[in-house]
Parts: sequence; C-alpha cells; structure tokens
Amino acid sequence: MNDSSAGKRDTKAPQRGRPPLDFQEHLARLEANGLLVRIERPINKDTEIHPLVRWQFQGGLPEDERRAFLFTNVTDAAGRRYDIPVAVGALASSPAIYAVGMGRRVEEIGAAWLNAIAHPIPPVAVSNPPCQEVVITGDELRRPEGGLKRLPVPISTPGFDAAPYLTATLCITRDPDSGVANMGTYRAALKATDRLGVRMSSRVGGAGGYLHWKKYRARKEPMPCAIVIGCGPAVAFTGPQKLEIDHDEMAVAGGLAGAPIRVAKAVTVDLNVPADAEIVIEGLIDWELLEPEGPFGESHGHVALEDFNMSMQVTAITHKRAPVFVSIVSQVTPSESSVMKKVAYEPLFLAHLREELGVRGIRRVHMHEPLTNLRKVMFLQFAAATPRTEVWRALNGAANLRADCGKVVVAVSDDIDPENVHGVLWSLAYRANPIEDVHISPYRSLGHGPKTDASATDSTMLIDATLKHPMPPLALPAREFMERARVIWDELGLPRLSPQPPWHGYDLGDWAAVWDDYARRAVEGSWETTGTETFARRRRGLTPETPVRDVEDRSKDLDLD
Ligand SMILES: Cc1cc2nc3c(=O)[nH]c(=O)nc-3n(C[C@H](O)[C@H](O)[C@H](O)COP(=O)(O)O)c2cc1C
Repeated sequence: MNDSSAGKRDTKAPQRGRPPLDFQEHLARLEANGLLVRIERPINKDTEIHPLVRWQFQGGLPEDERRAFLFTNVTDAAGRRYDIPVAVGALASSPAIYAVGMGRRVEEIGAAWLNAIAHPIPPVAVSNPPCQEVVITGDELRRPEGGLKRLPVPISTPGFDAAPYLTATLCITRDPDSGVANMGTYRAALKATDRLGVRMSSRVGGAGGYLHWKKYRARKEPMPCAIVIGCGPAVAFTGPQKLEIDHDEMAVAGGLAGAPIRVAKAVTVDLNVPADAEIVIEGLIDWELLEPEGPFGESHGHVALEDFNMSMQVTAITHKRAPVFVSIVSQVTPSESSVMKKVAYEPLFLAHLREELGVRGIRRVHMHEPLTNLRKVMFLQFAAATPRTEVWRALNGAANLRADCGKVVVAVSDDIDPENVHGVLWSLAYRANPIEDVHISPYRSLGHGPKTDASATDSTMLIDATLKHPMPPLALPAREFMERARVIWDELGLPRLSPQPPWHGYDLGDWAAVWDDYARRAVEGSWETTGTETFARRRRGLTPETPVRDVEDRSKDLDLD
C-alpha cells in the first residue's frame, strides 16, 4: 500500500470518465443526470421512507423510470428529527443508476467487473480522513439518545421487521491467519445505542465474513468489524459481488475506480476503512454468544424469521461533518438489491462458461429477477446450431458454479430474448421434448430461501429448449411491413408503443424459395399468377392437409426411378 497524507480532496466537482470517489459525488452526478428526486417534506423513516420508494418497484414503472431518492427532512415514530439526510435507491434502483456509480455506460458494466478482477489496484493509506471528522466513542455511545440512535436508520419492511436495519453496509472483517480483508453487504439490526445484530450467512457460498468469524471463534477472540455506510459506489459494489475468498476486495474496487481507493486506519479496531466513507461503525463481534435477530424481510421474497446471529458491540461511530445515510431497498425482487447483484453476477457466469469452460455458442446469461431473486432460475442463450453437447456442458456449468445459484437452468436459442418469459415458455412449448430435454438431478443444497423445511435438500432441473431442427417462420408480418406500419401508427398519433419481442416474422430454417415468390407476388398484387401455377398442380386421391412437399418430392423421386 502506498502512503499519502492528503486527507482532503475536492469532491464537489463531478468528473467524467471515472467512477465517483465518494457517495455525495455520486448523488451529485445522479442529480445532474436527472436520476435523483429530492424529497424535502417531513418523512417518517420508520413507516414511510421504504414503502414510498417501494412503489417504484411495485407500481408498474418501467425500469428506466426508477429514481434515487434523497430525503432531507427525516423524522421517526418517536417524533425525533434527524439532521442527516437519507438516500434510498441511490446505488442501484436501475442499471442506469448503477452505471453512474461505475462512471460507465450500462453495456460496459460487465467488462468493467472482469477488468477490475483481472487488474486490481492496491489502496493508498491517508491520514485525517473525511470519514473521521466526527468521532463518537465511550459514554457518548451509551447515552439514551446517543450512539446508533443518532443515525436515521429506516425500517425496511414496516409491519414485519423487528427493528430499524442497516442495509447498505460494507462489513469489513479480516482473516486472522492470512490478514486479507473481506467486504460484504450484510444486514445489521439496531439492538441498543451501542449494539447491533449482524447476519452473516453460514450456508455454502454464503458470507466471507462468516468464515472469518469461525476462525476467531476457534481462537476464542472477538472479531473486529467495521461497517461502512455510504462510500464511493465502486467500493460499495464490491460488497454484494461474489469474489473468490481471500481476494483483496479493496484492490478490486481500485480496479473498478481506475485509481487506488483511499483508506485509513479505523479508530478503535485494527482494520482499514474507506477514507471517504460517509459513516463507519466500528466494533467487536462476540465469538461465543449469538443473539436472536429478525424477523426481517429477505430478498428471497419471504420474511426471514428470528434466528440466532452475531452480536456486535459498537466501539466507535465515525462520520463526515455532514454525512448522508444510505439505505438499500431489498425484500421482494425486483429491488435495488437484485439490480445490484444482477449486473454484477451475470458477467461472472458468462465469463465462467465462455472463458473457463470454453463453451461454444454461448451468447448470454440472464438471471430471472421478478420474485425469484436471480439465483434460482437462469436462462442461457445460444447461437443457432450450437451442438447439443455444448448446450449441456453450459447447463451443467451454470448450475454448478455456485452452490446457491442455478436450481432451474433453461437454454434457449438466440432468436429468443431470455428476458421475455413468454418467449421462453414459447420455446418450452414448441422446441423442447420434456422426456429428452429435461434432466433432474438430486442433492442440491437449499441455498437462499425460507427455512420452512431446513432438513430437506433441493434438486436441479436443466432444460434444453433450443431450436433443434428447422421450423417454419414465425407468423407475423415480415420486419419491413411492421416497420412501415409503425411509421403510420406514429403519424396517426395512436398510443405510444413499446414493442415486445417477437414483433415481426422471421425465417427459422424451414422455408422454400418458391414460397418467397408467392409472398412477393402477394404483396405486389399478382397473386393470380400463383393461382394459375397451383391450378396446374392439382392432384386427386389425397386427404386434406397432406403436405405438398411430401407428395411432390415423392413424385420427383418416382420420376427419377
Ligand atoms: C442489500 C443486500 C443485503 C444483503 N444482506 C445479506 C446478509 O444479511 N447476509 C449475508 O450473508 N449476505 C447478504 N447479502 C448478500 C451478500 O452481500 C453477498 O452474498 C456477497 O457476495 C457477500 O460478500 P462476501 O462473499 O464477501 O461475503 C446481501 C446483499 C445485498 C445487496
């Protein structure tokens, strides 16, 4: 790590071509791009903030109309007023918002991740960091209205959640053996002015922080932890991303940012934190005693019930002089949490299939988002005529890369948009023969889901719904006619269209040149020529619906004999 004592930096002037280096610069860029809504009226953090932002996911808005919200007049159920504003939906309400955080276009997000993982940039240490302009320790943490109560922590699922929860977290822990730090986005419940309940998933493929905790438990030592709320999106996005264990995530964040991330020593624990963070909560996680945590509305779409989870004694809260508090909309998908994971996970799966397994013909990996939450159902899109053996290597590869992803994997051809579930079902209906094209294998772990029957195991269903032989064209007017009609539609001022694929007919391999002639003549008004020809080809002794080519091809054979 390099060293620099330049603790201050101008975050006001938005710069293009690199990701914003702190959260407030990110907000300024969102606002400049028309992606931020400021709410100045009083708003209750416990009962109103999350339900309000929720409406943009449940209210039928197209993804590109979702916005980041900044609440500047925050109150709570007990009548308190907070001078710290709350941002919700500002990290990933839509891919466009995430892309602003990456300083890139939406289409460049996948490549940016792969590049950052391949070319990490180590962080640089600074002193006097902005995130420690205010330091709260000791009695001030325990005062009845002090400590965590000073923070405007919203309730995510009012009516079900047991407490206000930190959701936009970056929980930094360190492997006590290797010294490598991990950063994960894990929820944390307010328990007291100086205590949090932290949930790090213990399932296979779960939280990196949990693996660290097991090592501290073996040593009988508390685990130092620093929970960052609000930082440069490049850093924040590494929290939910699945990176190899022992991968230095701060260096990957540097790779995303295109510059070293500025880090500083935490005040009370031996960890490095992002120097330009808004708020950092430092503490020690008990190695021995777990504490009931929850219920809390989970991203698998059900409420997680009360479980024993980690108990963190807060040792310090540090923040900027004028910080912004950040909260993420999670629970039922689509949500901010699922957008954030989707744009980061899909490129990793595609790279695995394409680069590591070398699957031929793989075009796209799409993780299904609404209600199913990405992990359970995935679609793979293939180029035409990809060998079946390659399709099946990819189906198995996608189902096995992560223990908790790929319970149902469906392969479709490249004329099907995997985001269009109707198109996928159309493929299942006409292109897959279940007895041959559906395979079910046993013994998948339950993964991320409600623990209604925690003793059970799950299984995997793989489906090849690609086109396996030529089929007749899709029965819609050919593209040129639909496009021409669209111009007329618009000229007539009819209601705005949002074309749903497929919106024009196209060839699927089973077609003869003579039918092109018929179709051309038909649109030129000379269909009688075709009638004259077919009159000459009339036959007797046939059952209606006998395919012409069966008869005429056979008679050609007979002629040859
Ligand atoms: C909003 C949000 C909340 C999350 N909450 C948790 C959580 O409470 N516990 C957990 O283990 N993972 C949670 N995750 C998923 C992890 O962040 C994700 O698995 C990530 O890869 C963990 O990083 P790690 O592999 O470094 O542990 C959450 C993700 C998001 C986006």
